[in-house]
Amino acid sequence: MQNQRVLVLDFGGQYNQLIARRIREQSVYCDLVPGDMSVEKIKEYGPIGIVFTGGPNSVYDEGSPMVDKEIFSLGIPILGICYGCQMMAYLLGGTVEKAENSEYGKADVEYSPSPLLSGMPPKAVSWMSHTDRITKLPEGFTRLAKSADCPFAAFGDEKRKLYGVQFHPEVQHTENGTQILRNFVYGVCGATGDWTMKGFVERKVAELREKIGDKKVLCAMSGGVDSAVAAALLHKAVGDNLICVFVDHGLLRKYEADEVMNVFKDGMGMNLIKADDGKIFLEKLKGVTDPEKKRKIIGEQFIRSFEKVSKQIGAVDYLVQGTIYPDVIESGKGKSAVIKSHHNVGGLPSVVDFKEIIEPLRDLFKDEVRGVGFELGLPKSVVMRQPFPGPGLAIRIMGEVTEEKLETLRDSDYILREEIAKAGLDESIWQYFTVITNSKTVGVQGDFRTYENVIAIRAVTSLDAMTADWARIPYDVLQVISNRIVNEIGHVNRIVYDITSKPPATIEWE
Ligand code: XMP
Repeated sequence: MQNQRVLVLDFGGQYNQLIARRIREQSVYCDLVPGDMSVEKIKEYGPIGIVFTGGPNSVYDEGSPMVDKEIFSLGIPILGICYGCQMMAYLLGGTVEKAENSEYGKADVEYSPSPLLSGMPPKAVSWMSHTDRITKLPEGFTRLAKSADCPFAAFGDEKRKLYGVQFHPEVQHTENGTQILRNFVYGVCGATGDWTMKGFVERKVAELREKIGDKKVLCAMSGGVDSAVAAALLHKAVGDNLICVFVDHGLLRKYEADEVMNVFKDGMGMNLIKADDGKIFLEKLKGVTDPEKKRKIIGEQFIRSFEKVSKQIGAVDYLVQGTIYPDVIESGKGKSAVIKSHHNVGGLPSVVDFKEIIEPLRDLFKDEVRGVGFELGLPKSVVMRQPFPGPGLAIRIMGEVTEEKLETLRDSDYILREEIAKAGLDESIWQYFTVITNSKTVGVQGDFRTYENVIAIRAVTSLDAMTADWARIPYDVLQVISNRIVNEIGHVNRIVYDITSKPPATIEWE
């Protein structure tokens, strides 16, 4: 059965995906679609509520995006946020003008009682980001909140269930902001909260079973979260008719390749074939120091290794891709997007003989993918795995990749991960790893002069890897990590901590 659905119409604001995620977190399914979706299509979609997002435009500028006014007579509750609320006010006969004082950042907002604001304190901080403001409400609307610079910080027409908020309830700086979104979907739209990962798994498994029947499905496993969860879901649906191929390029972290085999083959009994090609990769990387060349060699050999195994398997009916919802949204065309060859397994489709691509996670945000992973019984180490680059440890070793450097990197990285987990920082830091810097320094150990390797620690906080800041790991944790790496691993006498943000640096060193 179809879930109840909220439709989020996108007008180009920077927090739009966040709005959709916050609604989904309330156990209500929603889709983020371009703001110009026609009223006909909206009716067909059948949402229980509609949200207009913010956006960079001014309603009085020529060519600004506008909904068809008919949308207000569909009887579907609407919440306009920022630009979305100005557009609603403007189209229904209110006045929107350039504000004397733009309002950016935190503002004290006073709330009045309303179904939208149920449970809100009389006064709280909310996050504003606007240069225009509404100076006159359309007929039928009343003021529900105000701030010093914004006379109509929230307003509504309770009869028609149309609401607007000038601030951003979706960002964490807005106190109780999630409560407002929750009030909208439950109190105003009548949601029942039928979007759960348990329900998703049940429905998806039934759907995949029906679609696939006894045909063959092929999945490239990288050890990453998305491909792992996609494979586990398909395994639950079709069992042995799913064949997974895991190319071990020998550039994974300590114990990682074994874990993939333990969890998926031994633990779940998955039909998993491993291409143990570490030696081939290392041979091809011999003498190569240029980062781009390394990437290219690894990418090409990955495809060759996969091809070799898939030839033994022969033709399959379906190829699984770990595409997730942000990839679908970013393709800019919503659900009708042409299937792209996903960057996780770039280039694979052309070397595999298959009839159709299956993307079982294409409706899910990353947090939801993790939720499905837990629901399917995957261990935390797999489900909460930090992002890991396709070329693996090769781009964390400056200069030539050798077996010796790989071992040093794996051992130091393992110590770092152990200590970060022990300090309880593993879920707040986006990525953390060690780097072989390819430089040597003088040290003194046991009264002897040493001339050994420098290892760098890289740890960053980030929301999406587009920008990042260096993580403020407490000094005493850094000290333990430094001591352990130098004492427990040979050939290392110095540890440095990378304190560069992105930009100007990148997260990885190569
Ligand atoms: P940078 O180093 O560009 O990395 O700041 C941003 C994010 O992407 C990951 N990364 C990669 N992922 N293939 C991947 O699948 C790659 O070639 C690759 N290079 C970087 C990186 O770990 C970070 O999360």
